[in-house]
Amino acid sequence: MTERKRDHVDIVLGKEVRPRHNHWDDVHFLHRALPEIDLEEIDTGVTLFGKRLAAPLIISSMTGGFEDAVRINDNLAYGASKVGVGMGVGSQRPVLQDQAPEDSWTVVEKHSVPLMIANIGAPQLIRQGEKEPLGLEEARRALQMVGGDILAIHFNYTQEIVQPEGDRRARGVLEAVRTIAKELPVLAKETGAGISKEVALQLKEAGVQGIDIGGLGGTSFSAVEFYRAQMEGMEQKERLGEVFWEWGIPSPISLFLSQVGLPVIATGGIRNGLDVAKAVALGSSAAGMASQMLRAAERSAEAVVRELESVIAELKAVMFLTGCTDVNRLHETRVVLTGPTKDWANSLGLLGG
Ligand SMILES: Cc1cc2nc3c(=O)[nH]c(=O)nc-3n(C[C@H](O)[C@H](O)[C@H](O)COP(=O)(O)O)c2cc1C
Repeated sequence: MTERKRDHVDIVLGKEVRPRHNHWDDVHFLHRALPEIDLEEIDTGVTLFGKRLAAPLIISSMTGGFEDAVRINDNLAYGASKVGVGMGVGSQRPVLQDQAPEDSWTVVEKHSVPLMIANIGAPQLIRQGEKEPLGLEEARRALQMVGGDILAIHFNYTQEIVQPEGDRRARGVLEAVRTIAKELPVLAKETGAGISKEVALQLKEAGVQGIDIGGLGGTSFSAVEFYRAQMEGMEQKERLGEVFWEWGIPSPISLFLSQVGLPVIATGGIRNGLDVAKAVALGSSAAGMASQMLRAAERSAEAVVRELESVIAELKAVMFLTGCTDVNRLHETRVVLTGPTKDWANSLGLLGG
């Protein structure tokens, strides 16, 4: 189990795991030659799930459960607390199923991260073969373990279908989410294939408090599992990984579709503050970054701080060049769509008249 989490980190750091096209490249701002504001008056702060953040930015859920994950999560939490952004931890399933010690998750409690997001997987909320499902009690424990403000329940069926030891049952998951969301604050989160409008509405009706789109454009778990299958000589799985490498709803499109009256976090392919600004202009409450923050965390805690500060400086630059003094104004800023994202939007009738 925890070997798998180690493999994921090694593969993401060492191999190309992204799709060919990043759809944030199809989103453009209109430059404003006369900003009529001063850079120093720009406020990037936002409130998300009742917590004040220095910027609309989350370090997305990644890891836990092996020795080096203590250092990685320590570095990420240090950066998030120092700069004042949110952070998610990786799936806590290994601890909840007694397959790993807690230390790589509890380490985040050393730091005061303004918004801490616990994490469990949706497929594990129902019975998968011999494995007992995780329920309300485990969900509570996951939150307590990291001092979590909200619990991400992740949907990763693309990965489950490609990975050698994947969970293939999905009937009953929505009811299981509903049971937990009745008692605890829940963030529904995809992990790279995006959320559609129908699913966003189902999740809202089930009582979740927010949606993290986890769209196509960044880390592809089909790609990650392709490499794992290759290492293990599993030909059919390797082929599945290759065929489904680019499966999913592009992040900006999923962001359009997921706006059903709940806060939305835009994750999937966010590389810099310009991408964060695009996500905010298209309606997200915050953007989430995973693989890029992992690269910084692998180096040091200070590298995480530097990465976050650079992203915020880039976000501020966009706000300056579009004349936005605060994030609310950025939400109202119009953007131009081109290329494949425009085609997707047109095909789904999202652009209106
Ligand atoms: C090494 C690694 C491990 C991940 N593990 C989890 C996980 O345990 N739970 C989860 O919800 N998402 C997990 N993710 C998905 C990310 O949170 C995010 O949705 C996805 O990587 C897209 O963001 P990116 O393009 O910035 O990498 C993981 C991502 C990476 C790179």
